Amino acid sequence: MALPLTSIICLLLVVPASQGGRILVFPHDGSHWVNMRILVEELNSRGHSLTVIRTADSWYITDTSPYYSALTIDVKGGGNEEFFRHFVSQVIKIKKSKASAWAQFSLNMELKNRFSYFHEKVCETIVYMFENTTLMRSLQEAKYDAVLTDPGNGGGVFLAHYLRLPIVFNARWTVHGEAHFAIAPSPLSYVPLPPSELTDRMTFLERVRNVIYYITRMHLYKQTVGAHYSALSMRYFGPNVDYFSLFQAADLWLMRVDFVFEFPRPTMPNVVYMGGFQCKPAKPLPDHLEEFVQSSGEHGFIIMSLGTLIADLPADLAEEIAAAFAELPQKVIWRHKGSRPSALGNNTLLVDWIPQNDLLGHPKIRLFVAHGGTNGIYEAIYHGVPVVGIPIIFDQADNLSRLRAKGVARTVEISDLDRTNFQEAIQDVLNEPSYRMNMQRLSRLHRDTPMRPLDTALFWIEFVMRHKGAAHLRTESYKLPWYSYHSVDVMVFLLTAAGLLMFLTFGLLCFCLRLCFKRKQKNE
Ligand SMILES: *[C@@H]1O[C@H](CO)[C@@H](O)[C@H](O)[C@H]1NC(C)=O
Ligand SMILES: *[C@@H]1O[C@H](CO)[C@@H](O)[C@H](O)[C@H]1NC(C)=O
Ligand SMILES: *[C@@H]1O[C@H](CO)[C@@H](O)[C@H](O)[C@H]1NC(C)=O
Repeated sequence: MALPLTSIICLLLVVPASQGGRILVFPHDGSHWVNMRILVEELNSRGHSLTVIRTADSWYITDTSPYYSALTIDVKGGGNEEFFRHFVSQVIKIKKSKASAWAQFSLNMELKNRFSYFHEKVCETIVYMFENTTLMRSLQEAKYDAVLTDPGNGGGVFLAHYLRLPIVFNARWTVHGEAHFAIAPSPLSYVPLPPSELTDRMTFLERVRNVIYYITRMHLYKQTVGAHYSALSMRYFGPNVDYFSLFQAADLWLMRVDFVFEFPRPTMPNVVYMGGFQCKPAKPLPDHLEEFVQSSGEHGFIIMSLGTLIADLPADLAEEIAAAFAELPQKVIWRHKGSRPSALGNNTLLVDWIPQNDLLGHPKIRLFVAHGGTNGIYEAIYHGVPVVGIPIIFDQADNLSRLRAKGVARTVEISDLDRTNFQEAIQDVLNEPSYRMNMQRLSRLHRDTPMRPLDTALFWIEFVMRHKGAAHLRTESYKLPWYSYHSVDVMVFLLTAAGLLMFLTFGLLCFCLRLCFKRKQKNE
């Protein structure tokens, strides 16, 4: 009896009293879940219990996991991998054939409709949940401490507002675009709107472009999502609630951003930066890869991966890439799914999947050929590996343009990629030392922080849980009408007052002068 008791006491002394909280997670399906899952797993390992909401046809989110309990809502989610694969291959086709602007436009419209459909489905999911009183009561009774959600869709925001719970965002994009623009002052004179590919030093014409881009984008976002979320907000929260103000009222914004890579801009006290939070030191490679990599000798090796969505490149493009690689003295590990290009050199290894982080952290790595997705970019920065980018969809070109602006990357457009210019870009980045030196400088800056980005993120999530929100860090700006926000009313008032004063002074002066003049006349 004595033994178990002492061990229990020991345990109590060693393990701090578990302040395990409860967190409700409403993720954004697809690649965003890859990042969210990291937070979910870490929170779970700290003794919190998590409930993750998913739809019956979820694309990435499994219904069983040791890290969370899934709450499956029996509706179709509208996220569709097939569509995105099809979309990517259409984009490549259009870019390569330099097809008409019309083809490009109609593809973009198709994408917009797809997004609109997706948000409609999110709203249906929410209605389905709100209308199920048993479910809502059980969520109420579960007494969650916070809702962790991705503002890429409005589901978590509506749910949190309904349940009156604090909101923590795992953010980069809201339903209205880049997240800072939702809450922080964003002067368009030096803050480029992503994904415009502009920098923080704009010429007059670029500033014009930035403003026009801003206006058209905001219009597009509202057109795509506005109707769905307005109707939902009207139905459950009444006419006085603007759906976007629910986003702006979030307690905490964890942003997957690091200013090593981003242009500096105004921010807010409730924004916490955790760019690169998924990066970690490299682990040893599997034997066959280690052997291949070691065989590269002093030349080192290159890896190429275009992400999960770009399954197979068109055959002619793959031929050009293979031919360019074949002429290099380096070894190449290429993540490629399509058929084997005939020009493939014996220095190139084709694989289905690569341990990307471990390869990027290997001492013999020389270069990363990438598409410009966030994770790849932060891993490249973390390990200090320069990049040759082949941007394909969404904001990848914008991501890469920022790397270019820092002198750590070259990009090759897919529309004019051939063996000569692809090889030229690779040779340039390999042989011109500035690319590597600049990237290693970014890496040193990125790693020089008081706390790992992941630990910072976890601290702040728990902060919100401990204090039932973080309203003291949030500005009230989002409650102001636009004319108060920009002090237009104050300006009008002051100008009117000044005008009146001037008018009165002038009138008085005229009156006095006339009086003096009359008296003078009389005296004469
Ligand atoms: C409502 O929610 C409960 C609890 O999650 C579930 O068992 C039930 O099937 C739901 N009802 C409908 C109509 O989906
Ligand atoms: C690879 O190809 C080069 C040139 O074609 C040749 O010299 C070399 O022996 C080949 N290496 C192997 C391992 O086949
Ligand atoms: C880079 O591009 C991806 C899309 O592929 C996007 O989700 C991500 O937010 C971008 N990263 C940054 C840091 O802008």
